[in-house]
Amino acid sequence: MKQYVLIAALLPLLACSTAKTNPNIAEPTTSNSCQTPSTLKVAGECKGIMMGNVLRQQQIANVEHVTLLAEEFNYLTPENATKWMHLQPERGVFDYGKADEIVNFAQKNKIKVKGHCLVWHSQLPQWVDDITDPDELKTVMETHIAQVMGHFKGRMYAWDVVNEAIKTDTDVGDGNPRMRKTVFQRLLGDEYIDMAFKMARKQDPDVKLYYNDYSIDADNDKADYLYEMLKGMVQRGVPIDGVGFQMHIGTPNNVATGAEVAKNMQRIADLGLEIIISEMDINLCGGRNEAWQQALYHDITLACAEQPACSAITFWGLNDGSSWLNSWEGAGCKTEKPMPLLFDNKYQKKQTYEEVINALTGREL
Ligand code: XIL
Repeated sequence: MKQYVLIAALLPLLACSTAKTNPNIAEPTTSNSCQTPSTLKVAGECKGIMMGNVLRQQQIANVEHVTLLAEEFNYLTPENATKWMHLQPERGVFDYGKADEIVNFAQKNKIKVKGHCLVWHSQLPQWVDDITDPDELKTVMETHIAQVMGHFKGRMYAWDVVNEAIKTDTDVGDGNPRMRKTVFQRLLGDEYIDMAFKMARKQDPDVKLYYNDYSIDADNDKADYLYEMLKGMVQRGVPIDGVGFQMHIGTPNNVATGAEVAKNMQRIADLGLEIIISEMDINLCGGRNEAWQQALYHDITLACAEQPACSAITFWGLNDGSSWLNSWEGAGCKTEKPMPLLFDNKYQKKQTYEEVINALTGREL
């Protein structure tokens, strides 16, 4: 009798969860809170998805900011502090101060951290760009990866190993897809990507290793090129765990539909790789309206929720006021307000927040 009552009580709760079967990814939980989750992280747990955000070291002193961050999110990316120019500004001089503060904050609040990013052409100190000898660059790359991963060993859940290695003629991902001519590509060839992943895996057998890029989520040349690149890496046995779709949506990057995102996720999942949404923001630049933005937040979140291999969604900023798009030259939004996130300037939930929750709980728009 007791058993029947228990099963009957559990049935509606089980129904609210889409079971994820990928063994690499946390099992979804089913509890009362899955129907009316109090926070994003609770809603995410119900689908086996970590919910992430970013942090700058200066924001740690802003109590309102970090309190909300810790309440709502269980995954964190340092917005800038683990980039090469901050960790090794001069050759052989490593500075972990700001990054450690961020990682300590996360650990105190039981938040997992993804390091971002080991090899990238941007926010790279000039001394690396000035290297002209391939062997020297290879040694510098290996030393950077070893020192940095060694310092954070046991405290990072994941690392973006290579960031933004693919280029197309336009930032929306169309035209002549190719490897970006960075110092790494010029001196070491396309193999620098495989090399970086092997170096990273040598340092840590347990941490997740990702390739990360933008405008790879829609139906475009860059997404197709990425797929072929990943297929090659998997065939060669390169130690890669998955891909980060940055998901900076809107000017100047691509605008993907939920269906396009789902399709790109599926073919990557079919390669046996994990997918994360790693830097999501949907901006209103170019005269786009809030209804469009809300619907897209819903549909893209749903694509992740319905994909067993999609394990995390990280938003690139907590509230509209702290978005990088307010000051980034390339945003194409100089006279407009991008307003791309889930909380407004006063840290109040926007409708975009509700649509993310709706997508995770299976409620219609
Ligand atoms: C951005 C940061 O948000 C800014 O604060 C910084 O000035 C420039 O970089 N793709 C990435 C991120 O991989 O590292 C970038 O972050 C945004 C685009």
